[in-house]
Amino acid sequence: MASMCRRQFLRQVGVTGVALRADSWVGRAAQVQTRTSTHARVIVDPARPVASLDRRLFGSFVEHIGRCIYGGIYEPGSKLADPDGFRKDVLAEVRQLGVPIIRYPGGNFVSGYNWLDGVGPKKDRPRVLNLASNSIESNQFGTNEFLAWCRAVGTEPLLAVNLGTGTPERAANLVEYCNVEGGTRWSDLRRQHVVEKPYSIKYWCLGNEMDGPWQLGHMPAKEYGLKARDAALQMRTVDPSIKLVACGSSEVTMPTYLEWDRQTLEECYDDVDAISLHHYFGNGLETGGDSSKFLAINLMMDRQIEEIIAVCDMVRGRKRSKKQLWLSFDEWNVWYRKNTEADMNGQRKEAPHLVEEVYNLEDALVVGGLIITLLRHSDRVRLACLAQLVNDIAPLVTNADGVLRQTIYYPYAWALKYGRGNALNLVVESETYEVPEIGRVPYVDIAGTFDPESGSTTLFILNRDMIKAREVEVMWREGAPTRVSECQVMTGPDLKAYNSFEAPKRVIPQSLERPKAGARMTFELPAHSYTLAHLPG
Ligand code: AHR
Repeated sequence: MASMCRRQFLRQVGVTGVALRADSWVGRAAQVQTRTSTHARVIVDPARPVASLDRRLFGSFVEHIGRCIYGGIYEPGSKLADPDGFRKDVLAEVRQLGVPIIRYPGGNFVSGYNWLDGVGPKKDRPRVLNLASNSIESNQFGTNEFLAWCRAVGTEPLLAVNLGTGTPERAANLVEYCNVEGGTRWSDLRRQHVVEKPYSIKYWCLGNEMDGPWQLGHMPAKEYGLKARDAALQMRTVDPSIKLVACGSSEVTMPTYLEWDRQTLEECYDDVDAISLHHYFGNGLETGGDSSKFLAINLMMDRQIEEIIAVCDMVRGRKRSKKQLWLSFDEWNVWYRKNTEADMNGQRKEAPHLVEEVYNLEDALVVGGLIITLLRHSDRVRLACLAQLVNDIAPLVTNADGVLRQTIYYPYAWALKYGRGNALNLVVESETYEVPEIGRVPYVDIAGTFDPESGSTTLFILNRDMIKAREVEVMWREGAPTRVSECQVMTGPDLKAYNSFEAPKRVIPQSLERPKAGARMTFELPAHSYTLAHLPG
């Protein structure tokens, strides 16, 4: 197995969590002015977009880890499986969610993966050791199964190539296998595997977390940058239309944070389209278990995005390049309970229970906050993946009889359903509170979208106040809505409440009283809550 996990490495270098940092910052929320009442105000102007939203902002991720693939999306022996072995219950949930893009096959797993093991007749596929999580990999689910599953759920694939133990040549072979019509060695192999038409996969990740000493094939930034460049050149020769994401820093707490990104991009800026960001947030050592700090943690995501943008644009300037990179936040979530070394060790079992984080109400509020951050940076973050989708650090969990929606399912589902059109540049005024490591934090955080096609607006609102309900007065500069068609809230007396197969509806959205629609309207937000309001034009 990989010699250490991410947490163990960070402990060794003296980082005990995703630490909040001791400098004052409130990011984009700096637009927020301090008010001294429980009354917040927001001005909505549909004519002030941040960006036209790329639906890929709300993607997800499935990896060969634990029970994500085997027992999650694929379980041939199950009473719930279809003739292809896909779990019908999971398939229906993912289809209903409408996840636009899904990253595969890893994660750490990809850095030791030989994609050739996972194609061709299933009976001939080797059982191998999954070195990333010390588990047994049967290879019964591989590239073609994943791509068939993507079609069945109606999503787009985002494939990662192995730049750890793998070579740029093997990566280019996979592009040829997937995207070339026929008449060449690897495209003909695909046809032999009974897939006539090429898949035309557009988005590709050039490895995974190559800055991390836990990563198979980890190397210094300059070397990785050169390898990524070589892979990009070979892959693009096979298919010039593909979009490529280079590996950025895997943690803001890495000793090489930002330097890794700079050095990597110095080598491969001209050959890639985007750089990746990863971040898992927690209410453990990093916040001292203080929920009011935890609810502010999306501001750390704002900061990370802005710092990586600064590095990209600095390298761009040095290269006098016309091209501006976009960001792929291709692993984000809450994750801090099940992430010890033991939680990542499959003990040489097949589909072991690993990193099965149980999410509570406060995690759902934080996921809501992280969605707000992604929306306000959607001009540069064009793609992002909630990590992961099923069983392992996931909104959906399976057992032999069905699938459970965890608390974080709901804010994610709202973003997918209502986050359409343009993200708006809102003007927000809110009272603030002090989080020493962050600075002044507004009690109320808001993002909004406006869909020019339907004329409808959606507001996503986080009330970080642990004790008090807060009023938000919303004022429309133009195009005031005629009604509030949907107004739902995630809240409750117990921030630690969670769903289980025994009590699947303990934490679910509730209806919130709809204010009268007009050029000015006031929402009453319960203490510690996340609200969705949808307002047709
Ligand atoms: O998502 C779980 C793991 O977290 C992924 O394999 C890896 O990329 C990250 O460290």
